[in-house]
Amino acid sequence: MRKSLSWMRGLAALLPLLLLTLPPSTPEASGPNEVVVYSARIEKLIKPMFDAFTARTGITVRYHTASEAELYERLKAEGPHTPADVLMTVDAGNLWLAEQAGLLQGMESAVIDKNIPAHLRAKHNEWVGLSVRARAIAYSVERVKPETLSTYEALGDPRWKGRLCLRTSKKVYNQSLVATMIKALGEQRTEEVLRGWMANGPRIFASDTKLLEAIAAGQCDVGLVNTYYLAQLKAKDPAFPVAMFWPNQHDRGVHVNISGAGVTKHAKHRDNAIRLIEFLSTPEAQNLYADVNYEYPANPAVKPSSLIAEWGTFKADPVDVAAAGELQAAAVKMMDRVGWK
Ligand SMILES: [Fe+2]
Repeated sequence: MRKSLSWMRGLAALLPLLLLTLPPSTPEASGPNEVVVYSARIEKLIKPMFDAFTARTGITVRYHTASEAELYERLKAEGPHTPADVLMTVDAGNLWLAEQAGLLQGMESAVIDKNIPAHLRAKHNEWVGLSVRARAIAYSVERVKPETLSTYEALGDPRWKGRLCLRTSKKVYNQSLVATMIKALGEQRTEEVLRGWMANGPRIFASDTKLLEAIAAGQCDVGLVNTYYLAQLKAKDPAFPVAMFWPNQHDRGVHVNISGAGVTKHAKHRDNAIRLIEFLSTPEAQNLYADVNYEYPANPAVKPSSLIAEWGTFKADPVDVAAAGELQAAAVKMMDRVGWK
């Protein structure tokens, strides 16, 4: 008995080597029935969906969380030896970058094509949007009449001098917002808009939450944030004195971005990886996205959580979110040029 156990341990030690040398067509059933995820989203935002996936399929999800920059570097460094099957991160800019670096592979999936609108995913599903986040105008309900708000561009009106708050230009959320503005308005007009914002002497914050707290505390009156940060504060304190305004409803609509996932180029459990991403696009998982982080479902058949549903519906900018990646470098240069810290 003891002898056969040690023989098995020896085989177990060899297994990773064997797997590396096996041809890609080897059935996955020969390895553990699992899928490995590198996630820039924190555990509490992903575990409920992974648990539901395991309950439904019997496939174990192993995950490693770190910053998007760290995961990107790690995937690059590991190359074909990466244990990761799926990369999961926020912002189309980040996903686009991973695609461009050759870290993701496309997939054909009728499930994804049916559940997720084409403008929220890459051409061959190299990455797929799984939740939608809107970056809109937050305002003080005590000092701002919503009738005085209209568009992102109008935040450059002198009316907002000394009353505007912005997050740092280092954050990809703002880079993607500016990139999609360049796509819609062109370089010259976008730069004029940004110069207008800068002329209002915006206070700059390191996080959307701090920005919202500054509005509540009276340090400024309006700012740009992702809606789920306000939802989190409202969930704790329904009387939090800040509300959302949906800008540009008479032209291109509210800037939306995604969180999403893609199958890694060197996935060892490719079929399981596709099954996981497909599952995340279904109503069952999409409802969890809506409830766990107050994001908007990427699947249009699913309703947002009741807390954010109260804010009403809005017209979203239909621009292909890949533009956020394609024009990111131009956006960063422009933000630097206008002096957005
Ligand atoms: Fe965020």
